[in-house]
Amino acid sequence: MDKFVIKGGHKLSGSVEISSSKNASLPILCATLLIPFDVKFSQLPHLNDVSTLIDLLKDLGAIAQIDGDQTIINCKNIHKQEAQYDLVRKMRASVLVLGPLLARFKQAKVSLPGGCAIGTRPVDLHLFGLEKLGAKISIEAGYISAVADKLIGCQIVLPFPSVGATENIMMAAVLAEGVTTIENAAREPEIEELGLFLNRFGAKVEGAGTATIKIHGIKSTEFKMPKDSYRVQGDRIEAATFVIAGLITRSKISVTGFKPSTLSSVFDYLRQMGAEIQELSNGVAVSASEIKGGVTIDTAPYPGFPTDVQAQMMALLCSANSDSVITENIFENRFMHVPELNRMGSDIQLKGPSAFIKGGAKFQGAPVMCTDLRASAALVLAGLIASGETEVLRVYHMDRGYDQIDVKLRSLGADIQRVKS
Ligand code: EPZ
Repeated sequence: MDKFVIKGGHKLSGSVEISSSKNASLPILCATLLIPFDVKFSQLPHLNDVSTLIDLLKDLGAIAQIDGDQTIINCKNIHKQEAQYDLVRKMRASVLVLGPLLARFKQAKVSLPGGCAIGTRPVDLHLFGLEKLGAKISIEAGYISAVADKLIGCQIVLPFPSVGATENIMMAAVLAEGVTTIENAAREPEIEELGLFLNRFGAKVEGAGTATIKIHGIKSTEFKMPKDSYRVQGDRIEAATFVIAGLITRSKISVTGFKPSTLSSVFDYLRQMGAEIQELSNGVAVSASEIKGGVTIDTAPYPGFPTDVQAQMMALLCSANSDSVITENIFENRFMHVPELNRMGSDIQLKGPSAFIKGGAKFQGAPVMCTDLRASAALVLAGLIASGETEVLRVYHMDRGYDQIDVKLRSLGADIQRVKS
């Protein structure tokens, strides 16, 4: 298992280009199951989660051709509608094949994804929506089985704006009869992009990215092939991670290749904390000489403060000049980075869903363990400013969702090496 060895104390400089979004690429790749011809992508991110999902699509019968930064997925000859446990366990977003398989084949069998480090991650809202569309759902031996004579559009009111449930229902509704309206839908930019992607191929999705999404069902013969390949938008969470890398080292860097408007809530807090953030046409230029604490942050569904930036922001707040509080409202166990940061010298106290963060921490390098994707990012960020050497172990957690983060940080001047073992 590879590790990162980081020697802290280096200022960063220059510019970094963000890769395409993991959390937009995964549902979009699942959506190719709806489309019975070549779907061309350019510059999909080099992430283990993406390759795991492409392996799953191939296991179902898809053909994947990868040539440099061009990827073609063809789901014309899908011959299997069952997603195996070993693949779904590796990457829980595989549950997003449920909606498209059900829509196209009127049947699907997908392993229950199970929990992960940050929470139990139930899928009850996914199943609630699919049942409303007419699916008969049963759960046996750890598998979700869904069958439907046909899917009929209807109104679905989500009790919580679940990202995955919104995506699964959207994809199922594309081939349903009639109109489906999703109320209290998730509003994340990745949802908006899934709608844009589906419409490029002839679907009729309105309002993706707002709380009310309307999908007019079409027949699969109505899909049309666009002439050029599709490039997924830049990863806003990766962008936020690099912005915080610039700020935690009190450097001046540019982070490009993403839409700044997708990080408004993060930038509002960072500006309150003393960061200079200049919006460019395709990214931001950031700098900070001092970071002020005294903030209270609550994670929330978009457009609120994203839970996926909570750990990274916590590392930054440890280095601030006064105390702060972060409350995690989305996942029940997303503070796995706290004991590791405290081993590096921070003073973070947990009380229920809230973390009380003492400012002025002086991180010391130490061997630390990755547990989940974003917690790992927080450890790397702390390592950038720690005195001495930090060994970040089990970086496979990061390789799932960050495309060559070590290479990118090195290009900005960080002293970080990947040690293969
Ligand atoms: C997506 O997960 C992202 N993953 C997560 O990013 C992100 O943290 C999350 O949205 C919230 O923004 C992908 O897009 C692949 P949810 P998802 O359904 O769809 C509960 C990362 O680091 N819930 O909005 O699973 C659930 O337990 C990952 O890139 C139910 O109770 O998020 C959680 O507490 C981590 N029942 C909350 O809702 C359900 O049926 C948010 O879940 C579904 C969800």
